[in-house]
Amino acid sequence: MQAFIEGMPKAELHVHIEGTLEPELSFALAEKNGIELPFDSPEALIAAYDFHDLPSFLTIYYAGMSVLIDESDFYKLTWDYLEKAASQNVVYTEIFFDPQGHTSRGVAFETVITGIRKAQVDAEQKLGIRSQLIMCFLRDMSAESAMEHLQMAKPYLGWLVGVGLDSDEYNNPPVKFKDVFALAKQWGLKLTMHCDVNQKNTLDHIRQVIEVIGVDRIDHGVNSLESDELCELIVEKQLGLTVCPVSNRFVVQSLTANEIRTMLDKGMLATINSDDPAYFRAYMNENLIELQQEGDFSQSELKTLMANAFKVTWLPEEDKAAYL
Ligand code: HPA
Ligand code: ZN
Repeated sequence: MQAFIEGMPKAELHVHIEGTLEPELSFALAEKNGIELPFDSPEALIAAYDFHDLPSFLTIYYAGMSVLIDESDFYKLTWDYLEKAASQNVVYTEIFFDPQGHTSRGVAFETVITGIRKAQVDAEQKLGIRSQLIMCFLRDMSAESAMEHLQMAKPYLGWLVGVGLDSDEYNNPPVKFKDVFALAKQWGLKLTMHCDVNQKNTLDHIRQVIEVIGVDRIDHGVNSLESDELCELIVEKQLGLTVCPVSNRFVVQSLTANEIRTMLDKGMLATINSDDPAYFRAYMNENLIELQQEGDFSQSELKTLMANAFKVTWLPEEDKAAYL
């Protein structure tokens, strides 16, 4: 089964590039940039990863970004992720980035997006892995800040396939960003938003992303199973759900295998993703292998999960066909 999983051509649709920052690279960049880390070694840094909910994860995730300063840092971060993904037979990936996590530290938007883009282009040429970029807004920052960042992205629209919404969901509902997402849609960008597992008002948030924002996909969205009506809407609209099993384990102590199987049984387009693989210590193969073990998934179910991912990618229809 492990060989089957490793050999499957895979698509990943929910991975935060800043969440792929490996401790070894953190140390290398800290040294290069003259930044002091409060740990003696990469192992000590990993030992300090203490996540039990979304806020406790986000604190460590944002602190980790401090070593990313110049274009070459964003290039190396992205290159390393794409190299690792390609080594796991990921043939296509849609990557999130969080520009506000960098501009708020004085790093220019252009520095961030140019470093990422150059690595994407090189990786496609040299490693054969195709990728597209999704700009996320931090939902615990203001709608005005999100709008400013959307405007900053205007000269780079050709480098973006869509926009997303991440960070702390508590009291930050999707509707807060209604105008920002409406403009992004007008500009031809695809839309997705996080509805993380077990958040306050999660069913309201899922309803808002579908009915008010009109998203093309939902990130996580596991709690939709609590409402037959929302499940029916998700099936009717053929919305992909980018589920992240190992990430879920830090919040609900389960890889949500039962929930993922229920989604498949209901005809929902569930997909499997790594979210923040350097922090959760699990890339695509590890997510799939652990999920298979928890839920005793068959090869046919795993194939369905991966076919779902290719179906709900934001590739042109004719390009999708090559993978299905
Ligand atoms: N949820 C919300 N925000 C995030 C996440 C996540 O899983 N990863 C990085 N930012
Ligand atoms: Zn995420």
